[in-house]
Amino acid sequence: MAARKPDLAGYINPGSVEESILRDIDFQRLPSHIAVIMDGNGRWAQQRRLPRVAGHRAGIDSVRDIVETSARLGLHVLTLYAFSQENWKRPRTEISTLMLLLKEYLNRELDTLVRNEIRFNVIGRMDDLDPSVQRELKKGMRETQGLQGMTFNIALSYGGRAEIVDACRKLMAEIERERDSEASSGGPTASGPRDGGPVLSGEAGCVAEIDEDRFASHLYTAGQPDPDLLIRTSGEMRISNFLLWQIAYAEIWVTPTLWPDFRKVELLTAIRDFQKRDRRYGGVRATSEPQAPAAQSGSAGAHDKRRVV
Ligand code: FPP
Repeated sequence: MAARKPDLAGYINPGSVEESILRDIDFQRLPSHIAVIMDGNGRWAQQRRLPRVAGHRAGIDSVRDIVETSARLGLHVLTLYAFSQENWKRPRTEISTLMLLLKEYLNRELDTLVRNEIRFNVIGRMDDLDPSVQRELKKGMRETQGLQGMTFNIALSYGGRAEIVDACRKLMAEIERERDSEASSGGPTASGPRDGGPVLSGEAGCVAEIDEDRFASHLYTAGQPDPDLLIRTSGEMRISNFLLWQIAYAEIWVTPTLWPDFRKVELLTAIRDFQKRDRRYGGVRATSEPQAPAAQSGSAGAHDKRRVV
């Protein structure tokens, strides 16, 4: 995916640490998609003897900073893990404060998202959320639909396994529709997988047509590049059921910084470190040039299996 033009004029203070890190960053090799597990809000609050929700409130400032910086850098996609399916187990008051903060964020930030051409998108089981939250989210998606800048995915009531199950259901429903239309048009047509396997007919043909690209086209992130870089704050070394399919080849960067303290300087440091990684996708390095990412989640390019061993 071609790099976007950065728009940092007047945004980074001259002589700042950010400016010196930026000098080390190659804008032609930015990660296309960065995914972030925002963690540590509770600990941030605890360290200050504040209620946990104070940490979530402080975390909003980091969300603002990271969204705008990512868009100005020219990333194609930023995904923030805001609320997992497991988070429903938290106390009711914490959940309702998080939902309130989310609504407030959207209310306040929608103009900024539009101004920065940011397309807002929700991934996860949105139906689980309160109707008032769903209304705000849908408004945000509607009003930013078609904008040409960065896509900002917010993962809500999200689970990686649930996403895979949802994709299976959608794919099976699609296959059933195809089978019904074959039956009504006079019988099966021979078909085979897109990766060049044997040609089969009827039901076996439909099943054989499932390959990685077709499966990925039913994920919540269909059409988006897979994350190149996965960041987790607060030092925990876990994936926590996040984007399980999509992070197959993501570089992982963990920082002890708690999410409310995570700002552009940490994001730029993560990108600089990412550019020092040797990404081989299971293959071997043939030249001194960095290899382009192979796997794409949705329709954005075929998976190149030759490099994956
Ligand atoms: C993890 O910290 C963080 C969350 C579960 C929620 C993240 C939400 C926000 C930053 C605010 C809302 C987001 C948006 C986009 C408006 P934790 O509570 O698990 O921290 P701990 O591990 O220290 O307890």
